[in-house]
Amino acid sequence: MPEPWLTRRSTMAGIAGAAAAAVLPVPASARPLAPPTVCTHGTPSQTEGPLYRPSTPRRGDLREPDSAGEQLVLEGLVLTPGCRPLPGAMIDVWHCDENGRYDNRGFRYRGHDFTDAAGAFRFRTIRPGRYPDRTPHIHVKVQGRTTPLLTTQLYFPDLPYDNIGDSLYRDDLALRLERAGGIWLARFDFVLPTGRR
Ligand SMILES: [Fe+2]
Repeated sequence: MPEPWLTRRSTMAGIAGAAAAAVLPVPASARPLAPPTVCTHGTPSQTEGPLYRPSTPRRGDLREPDSAGEQLVLEGLVLTPGCRPLPGAMIDVWHCDENGRYDNRGFRYRGHDFTDAAGAFRFRTIRPGRYPDRTPHIHVKVQGRTTPLLTTQLYFPDLPYDNIGDSLYRDDLALRLERAGGIWLARFDFVLPTGRR
């Protein structure tokens, strides 16, 4: 019986083929991401929530032709606790649109990709909006070839009044946020336990 990760990847790859023609390729990074010098024991997990959908398309560009939200590049590394890169790790992302709505029928603002040889990933998308009782956030699932599956959520540190009212918010799941050329750049490095350093 194949490993669950391989089964999942094969399923995703099949769906990705159909979707590939409909999305623009993501340009290669202009700058490699510098790895941190110290990693944590592991990125904290958080609840999946009720709106996860499996079998998302493989794509690094989640923007839609009618996207009205502020553009966001979500990028980072997937690392071991010893700060070694994890190539080929899967990142599955989902978030609501600029008005706080999730697409529960299709795959708007949903997609997955794999880390490159340096353990890096990058998604082009928009900043998610607000919905009742939650501060803006991005849901993610991350899994390396030999790691457990991590499910968690990422937050925006420039929204302190929203964050303080959300009991799920954690500082150690906040993105490192910059704004350049009218685009938000959001960095987060995931650390996954592997049993080796
Ligand atoms: Fe959510």
